[in-house]
Amino acid sequence: MSLSAVACQKIDKASAKAPAGRKQSAVMAALTIAQEERGWLSPETLREVAEYLEMPPVAVYEVASFYSMYHLKPTGRFVLTLCTNLPCALQGADEAARHLQKTLKIGWNETTEDGMFTLLQAECMGACQEAPVLLTGHQRMCCKMKPPQIDALLTQLRAEAAKEERKG
Ligand code: FES
Repeated sequence: MSLSAVACQKIDKASAKAPAGRKQSAVMAALTIAQEERGWLSPETLREVAEYLEMPPVAVYEVASFYSMYHLKPTGRFVLTLCTNLPCALQGADEAARHLQKTLKIGWNETTEDGMFTLLQAECMGACQEAPVLLTGHQRMCCKMKPPQIDALLTQLRAEAAKEERKG
């Protein structure tokens, strides 16, 4: 399988912002685009990104394996990443973690049986005043996530998934 035409267009757009002859500068954008399209970054996808950007595959792997927002194995439909760094921990991240694990019946780096949620932990997300902080899909930042807010979020995400499935 090759990267889709849409993905290639997006990567080209990101590469165009780099100085001439430095399209490798778009590697993070390219990995994000590929992951959005495929859900995770398989070895095959990493090779395709490397080929497209004319980079050594190991250099692409180094970037993908360094940053926690890239997934090198399949994830659930929604990736929930809770900040467990000290400022968040002091404001209830431990309680949030226990609540998430109990409600979803999974531990860190695990995916629910229905494939809906993957639970990850991360370091500071730069929003300590909003602690505890949780990201969904590495894009939507959810703030002050106590158990009631977590329950509301899970309900909302399940409803979103059901709505998308109805659309087909
Ligand atoms: S410690 Fe959690 S956002 Fe900074």
